[in-house]
Amino acid sequence: MKALTWQGKNNVSVETVDDPKIMAPTDIILEITSSAICGSDLHLYHGLVSTMEKGDVLGHEFAGKVVEVGSAVKRVKVGDRVVIPFTISCGHCLFCSAGKFSLCLQSNPNAEMLAKVTGYTTAGLFGYSHLYGGFAGGQAEYARVPFADVGAVVLPEEISEEHALFLSDIFPTGYMAAENCNIQPGEIVAVWGCGPVGQFAIRSAFLLGASKVIAIDKVPERLVMAENGGASAIDYSKVDVLEAIKHMTDGLGPHACIDAVGMESFGHTPDALIDDVLQAVKLETDRSHALRQAIQCCRNGGVVSVPGVYVGIVDNFPLGIAFGKGLTFKMGQTHVQSYTKKLLGLIVKGEIDPRFVISHRVGLDQVPDAYAMFAKKKDGCTKVVLSPHQNGITQVKPLGN
Ligand SMILES: NC(=O)c1ccc[n+]([C@@H]2O[C@H](COP(=O)([O-])OP(=O)(O)OC[C@H]3O[C@@H](n4cnc5c(N)ncnc54)[C@H](O)[C@@H]3O)[C@@H](O)[C@H]2O)c1
Ligand SMILES: [Zn+2]
Ligand SMILES: [Zn+2]
Repeated sequence: MKALTWQGKNNVSVETVDDPKIMAPTDIILEITSSAICGSDLHLYHGLVSTMEKGDVLGHEFAGKVVEVGSAVKRVKVGDRVVIPFTISCGHCLFCSAGKFSLCLQSNPNAEMLAKVTGYTTAGLFGYSHLYGGFAGGQAEYARVPFADVGAVVLPEEISEEHALFLSDIFPTGYMAAENCNIQPGEIVAVWGCGPVGQFAIRSAFLLGASKVIAIDKVPERLVMAENGGASAIDYSKVDVLEAIKHMTDGLGPHACIDAVGMESFGHTPDALIDDVLQAVKLETDRSHALRQAIQCCRNGGVVSVPGVYVGIVDNFPLGIAFGKGLTFKMGQTHVQSYTKKLLGLIVKGEIDPRFVISHRVGLDQVPDAYAMFAKKKDGCTKVVLSPHQNGITQVKPLGN
């Protein structure tokens, strides 16, 4: 089959690789009909995640048609149209039983390698390095999906794969980020980063009762998309973010702050410029300027929720400020399987159409160009969806919700 492979820093290519095969009785094989590029893929693309190997197949947001099922698969049938959570989870370990699917103890074949770094293993992830299991991803024609009965979301007839595609990651991720804020009716939430994750965090914060959402970024069309979702936008390249936020919150700050930027944060203040240098010379793995700003802007006693990915060591972390303000931190890879049923319900009822975030559709052969465009946030690129059988790149006018 054809698949998008990682070849090194800023280098991905479409190659012919072996077709996936059933390896365990709980596996299924999927013919991919719709798949997406995520901000998390950019961390791989920029060479910032360890244990990637040349030829690794990328992609952890995908949907398709089931073409083969293992002998122990009961719920999912050949011919079903399904969306797959990016977290691979066994469904019955201590953490899966508690709904904490991204902390699964059983799904990472490289558990020992990861535990050497983190203390204990967490779940395997599609297309996300060998530390996380070395699973081939779904930017491909076919994919193998382990523990399919646990995660696969079988779609009802009225919903297309593209309509539900973002249940694989960014919708649950934005929702969990907002849920982690423990929003009480009428509270104010600020969201750093208006990429796809930030966009879903904004809409989820409103769904969970926020009275106001403040959105921070500098990419014009992303700020407009945030405003279309009801947020008040701040362009961090033009104004003093702390002053602007104080002005919008009666001087007290937002009750909760969401860092939907993660380890590749930009900025023009000295701490951000020092981060650029330290990351380039590998003295730190993650640039955390947006997180620092979120900590500073947060209301005393508030919550800082971090869906943005961090992979290692940050420099200049203002722990004393967070301590002094009595902040609560919530973070982590999303427990996707805990949210898919509820959020599919919202899509079916028409309460949200996740396709609003799509800016480009591409064929598999154009995915390397699409990575470059998405990485540079060029041509209004907010979210790329790929269909293996399409040809060329088409720009989509984003839906206005
Ligand atoms: N926790 C999870 O399970 C999970 C799942 C999916 C994605 N993620 C992570 O969420 C983050 C966002 O993903 P995405 O797909 O939206 O990525 P993206 O790259 O499209 O968006 C990031 C946005 O942050 C903005 N930004 C950069 N520096 C900023 C700053 N200082 N202040 C405000 N905004 C700033 C960029 O302009 C960009 O619009 C990434 O780190 C990704 O890896 C985490
Ligand atoms: Zn993702
Ligand atoms: Zn488990």
